[in-house]
Amino acid sequence: GVGPRGATPLAHRHEAVAAGREVSVTDLDTDPTRRADVTVDLVARAGTVRLASGRTVEGYTLNGTSPGPLIEVVQGQLLEVHLRNESVGSGLTLHWHGVDVPNAQDGVAGVTQDAVPVGGEHTYRFVAPDSGTYWYHSHQVSHEQVVGGLLGALVVHPATPTRPVDVDRVVVAHTYGGALTLDGQEGDVRVPAEPGDVVRLRLVDTDDGTLTAWASVPYRVVAVDGHDVHEPPAVERATVGVGAGGRVDLEVVVPDDGTAARVQVGSSDALVVGPAQAQAPPVERPDDAVDLLAYGTPAPLGIDPASPDRSFEYAIGRRPGFVGGRPGMWWSVNGHVFPDLPMFMVREGDVVRITISNDSGAVHPIHLHGHHAVVLSRDGVAATGSPWWFDTLDVRDGETYEVAFVADNPGIWMDHCHNLQHAADGLVTHLMYE
Ligand code: C2O
Ligand code: CU
Repeated sequence: GVGPRGATPLAHRHEAVAAGREVSVTDLDTDPTRRADVTVDLVARAGTVRLASGRTVEGYTLNGTSPGPLIEVVQGQLLEVHLRNESVGSGLTLHWHGVDVPNAQDGVAGVTQDAVPVGGEHTYRFVAPDSGTYWYHSHQVSHEQVVGGLLGALVVHPATPTRPVDVDRVVVAHTYGGALTLDGQEGDVRVPAEPGDVVRLRLVDTDDGTLTAWASVPYRVVAVDGHDVHEPPAVERATVGVGAGGRVDLEVVVPDDGTAARVQVGSSDALVVGPAQAQAPPVERPDDAVDLLAYGTPAPLGIDPASPDRSFEYAIGRRPGFVGGRPGMWWSVNGHVFPDLPMFMVREGDVVRITISNDSGAVHPIHLHGHHAVVLSRDGVAATGSPWWFDTLDVRDGETYEVAFVADNPGIWMDHCHNLQHAADGLVTHLMYE
């Protein structure tokens, strides 16, 4: 049902800013005469990808590589990206995954723009509203183009650093031709650092499944989906999961004894963090896992989810039906299959609560475009750790999450499963402003 309207949209907007958005929403409406602070030219091609390891696979490149170039800006800077499609036959777009951009810049083919055809160009232009680890990828036939490598990482550095760091490294985890790679390499990947260095590792899971990481040294989970964790404690012996499309920033300190730290990312790849020749001890996969529901310490949410303006159910199931004329068992939301899926309506300024449940028999990494939501509870157990803001949330079979967000970014937004094959099979809904 729809709850009573509590506060005015303006009051909500101030609350949203207090909730950690460092640039208010109105500042996002970019002055067309403003000069870009960072300009990037990207040329997309279909064909053979030569990975950093030298291995070649068939797929897609941006400026000749996959992953495409790392884009770095400082929060509040204006980023301008010129995309040219040289040979991607089905056309492409660029979506700024996790960045709460103005709707027109969201890069969703068929929703916010048309796919850019071969020979075509498109310019994206937005102010980076929040610091954090993000990524970009095509949003046209994503289950083929993203899987094929049309993607890259985007880091928005804070205007004033929140934690001291000696080495800051982004790591794109992507599977090419059946093998998981870290920045296109398999096995041990070196991250050069000196003894005692504080190293931030920004893990980006660009695959369809959950990535699991663990380390030979204590580590901290300092950010999730671009949002800083409040007072993250050291983790001694546990894994941390990164859902499909999600990002987790880990912090490790290089040992003083001349060895390197090993950060295992999946069972076959690892980051070896330390001096050039240093050995890193092997490390067994721990049984325990970090539970973000109880990790870190509480901090003000900046919104009052106890009196929402809207409440929605998002019940994921599986039922027989026809999708694209094909009979089968399809993913459903609230009992409906694509294209008969619910359209969630909000008004600007609403505090929105969603109950996401899953009894479909599979994990669904649910991704919200244009917004970050905060986890309130899982299976009736209230969150007790740091506010857990996400744009992509792994919802396992049998789980129920209560989440909340502020509708502070008008437009029409896709909310979908980031297992891209599931999205292609119809697990796609939309959020729309009245
Ligand atoms: Cu990362 Cu709708 O996508
Ligand atoms: Cu799914």
